[in-house]
Amino acid sequence: MDLDKIDVTSQPPTEEPARQYYFMAKCRARLKEFEQKNGRLPKACVTTFGCQMNARDSEKMAGILECIGYQMTESEEADFVLYNTCTVRENANNKVYGRLGTLHNYKKKNPQMLIALCGCMMQEESVVRKLKESYRFVDLVFGTHNIYKFAELIAGAYEADSMLVEIWQETDTIVEDLPVERKYFFKSGVNIMFGCNNFCSYCIVPYVRGRERSREPEEIIREIEKLAADGVVEVMLLGQNVNSYGKNLKNPISFAALLQKIEQVEGIERIRFMTSHPKDLSDELIAVMGRSKKICKHMHLPLQSGSDRILKIMNRHYDKAHYLQLVEKLRAAVPDIAITTDIIVGFPGETEEDFLETLDVVRSVRYDSAFTFLYSKRTGTPAAAMEEQVPEAVAKERFDRLLAQVQTIAAAQAKAYTGQTLPVLVEQVNVQDASLVSGRLSNNSIVHFPGNADMIGTFVDVTLEECKGFYYLGRKCEEKNPQE
Ligand code: SAH
Ligand code: SF4
Ligand code: F3S
Repeated sequence: MDLDKIDVTSQPPTEEPARQYYFMAKCRARLKEFEQKNGRLPKACVTTFGCQMNARDSEKMAGILECIGYQMTESEEADFVLYNTCTVRENANNKVYGRLGTLHNYKKKNPQMLIALCGCMMQEESVVRKLKESYRFVDLVFGTHNIYKFAELIAGAYEADSMLVEIWQETDTIVEDLPVERKYFFKSGVNIMFGCNNFCSYCIVPYVRGRERSREPEEIIREIEKLAADGVVEVMLLGQNVNSYGKNLKNPISFAALLQKIEQVEGIERIRFMTSHPKDLSDELIAVMGRSKKICKHMHLPLQSGSDRILKIMNRHYDKAHYLQLVEKLRAAVPDIAITTDIIVGFPGETEEDFLETLDVVRSVRYDSAFTFLYSKRTGTPAAAMEEQVPEAVAKERFDRLLAQVQTIAAAQAKAYTGQTLPVLVEQVNVQDASLVSGRLSNNSIVHFPGNADMIGTFVDVTLEECKGFYYLGRKCEEKNPQE
């Protein structure tokens, strides 16, 4: 789309994405004036909190910022700063307030600066109220449902003389074909669905991300084909519960069937996905993974708790036995698969007995890694109203025991691969030691080995010489990979 050909003196079109391109052209004209007046390009910075879904949204917003004429920078001392926020736990939330003070200081030095906040936290009324009361230097606030209107919102913020707030409660629109600025040239996240219908009783995501909406498979394939043509070799399919993908489409399709279509895209070598809900993990998917050469040998399967009683109150719709059975099936179909998880400690009413059930699952499954979280009370969720909130000290003590167990097992699991030669997709020059490069195995483990920047985005066969607990040190294998 050539922005220079758009007539910004006419009325904006009503259809999308044409409307957004109109506003991009408008913003671009404004930034040209900025450049002339200041003798430099305007700078923009996007800071992302939270999950991969937010990271992908940020790439889309960075795409628009670049398209309208901002030079992207890592420094928040910029002319436009956007925080894409997360609210899944209280501490995610607090981080944002903590950093807003620093932004305010930057703005005092550069009064032209615009500060924008978006993402999950903004979908909470109490947050917006607090911003309006105590953070009036913020220029633009929007939520998760109108991100596709980013260009229009920026145009509005340029004109507004006080905080512009636009939060929608819901949307059923999915707008395709807006610009994206990818962080990596060789890998990319791809949204396959938005929102969540599961309402796990502790979780705020369904309230801030809205109802589940799947993208049409044709649109997903079209995007992946474009990415492949652009040099992408690895895609990460994103959704809060990818296993329920496609169920609500006019022509329903399963996640396993979608994966099989994606496998056929030439140029794509690795396919990852996140997150799988155990209740919807089908035998069909396990079978497809078993047969596939492209789907990575990694399953992130959030457990949350090992206690049947707690799982029920969490509204997770599976029990310990079912979960363990899934793990068994996965391991039978995909030998060497890495299994990782999320676990919450200190959910209301959790007893020592319940916690021991969680530890028991950790010991039986032997996770390759696990994210462990202290339960965080989220206003508006059913769990927040439950009596018997677990005292902080008790939860913390359990958390430490869990973490120690998880780490011991993860280190032992990783050791098993030492000595093997496996393909690594090189991602970057090592941050600490520039003589090394860092990349990932199919099972998502990180490997560092001697190399150079030319290797970034390529597959290199690496012999894993030493396991350092969470990562490997290796050496490029000069012979042909015996596993191929
Ligand atoms: N859709 C994904 C998870 C998204 S949130 C899934 O269902 O697996 C990522 C993780 O944050 C969750 O798996 C859960 O472990 C954790 N989490 C969510 N709400 C939380 C809360 N209120 N307190 C602590 N951890 C929470
Ligand atoms: Fe939250 Fe549950 Fe939805 Fe995951 S599946 S986002 S934990 S409500
Ligand atoms: Fe956080 Fe929203 Fe993701 S609450 S975890 S950024 S969906």
